[in-house]
Amino acid sequence: MISRFYTLTTYPAGLPDLSTFALESAELPELEEGEVRIQNRWLSVDPYMRGRMTGIRTYIAPFELGKPMEGGAIGEVIASRHPDIKEGQRVSHMGGWRDIAQLPGESVTPLPEGDAPEQAYLGVLGMPGMTAWTGLNLIAECKPSDNVLVSAASGAVGSLAVQLAKAKGCHVVGIAGAAHKLAWLESIGVEPVTYQDRTAQELSDAIKLASPNGIDVYFENVGGICLEAALAQLNEGARIAVCGMIEGYNAEAPAPGPRNLSQLVVRKARMQGFIVADHWASYRYFLNEVTPQVADGRIVYQETIKEGLESTPEAFLALFSGANTGKMLVKL
Ligand SMILES: NC(=O)c1ccc[n+]([C@@H]2O[C@H](COP(=O)([O-])OP(=O)(O)OC[C@H]3O[C@@H](n4cnc5c(N)ncnc54)[C@H](OP(=O)(O)O)[C@@H]3O)[C@@H](O)[C@H]2O)c1
Repeated sequence: MISRFYTLTTYPAGLPDLSTFALESAELPELEEGEVRIQNRWLSVDPYMRGRMTGIRTYIAPFELGKPMEGGAIGEVIASRHPDIKEGQRVSHMGGWRDIAQLPGESVTPLPEGDAPEQAYLGVLGMPGMTAWTGLNLIAECKPSDNVLVSAASGAVGSLAVQLAKAKGCHVVGIAGAAHKLAWLESIGVEPVTYQDRTAQELSDAIKLASPNGIDVYFENVGGICLEAALAQLNEGARIAVCGMIEGYNAEAPAPGPRNLSQLVVRKARMQGFIVADHWASYRYFLNEVTPQVADGRIVYQETIKEGLESTPEAFLALFSGANTGKMLVKL
């Protein structure tokens, strides 16, 4: 059986383009004892993948040039030599950026029973959702009286972060880049603010207008002027959960830091980065809390879906122009 997969052709400087990726194919070897073969139905593209395209090991190894790329995926098992995984089972795994994956059975996770659409396990009920829950609860220790600010607030992570904060009873401000994203935030009771065409000072003023009592929790997805503006509005004892800083992922040189970092001292604030993988032991608590709220519509989510394996690079690149609303997915 032939598998078609993407490889990385180079470690790009700056914004990657379509030539960064090559679609290749290869005959899969015989299935070995303990392995499973999966027909992928959904692929995830995520901003963190840009960090794997630098050739430098961070908390995760870089993609190897010329080797099949990896990423979150959902598919159906079409052959199994693993005792606990059966043909026909739907599983999530990391053998994305390809149509057919062959993996050790130990590395795949059967989807939970339930009515949620399977691709939700790449978004609101998957890694991005778990990231929102972790950042808000475990890192920022968000409580009902908090004034909360979230950047990239209509994205996969941000859109759940704002809703979880709303559900606690917080006053929530969301930063987003396009009019339809701001309208969506408003429709779910979040005060929308945009950063586009603004300086850090103007953004800070807009945040103050939207949250006159300051900011107790900042859920950071973007960096750059969003961070500088947020720092200017912190209340005493504020917590910043640094989830990501997408504004710098394609930068060719390090950006200057925020000019007002000393606000952390003045406001006796805490700023803490985190990686969701370190908190995966809590995934079941996240699912227990969030799955029923997704099922009954208390939590809503959006998806941007590209069709076909050939659209995977384009879907990935679109994350950096804000062309996605909610979770960016590729449907095979
Ligand atoms: N720490 C972890 O374990 C972890 C796990 C998952 C994700 N993350 C991070 O969480 C953040 C959000 O990820 P996601 O998967 O939910 O992506 P996403 O928010 O669904 O998509 C990315 C969004 O970022 C904004 N953006 C893109 N380029 C930008 C730029 N140059 N300047 C400002 N904004 C830009 C755009 O929204 P607008 O149109 O609204 O600007 C875009 O839609 C990322 O920083 C990601 O790296 C971290």
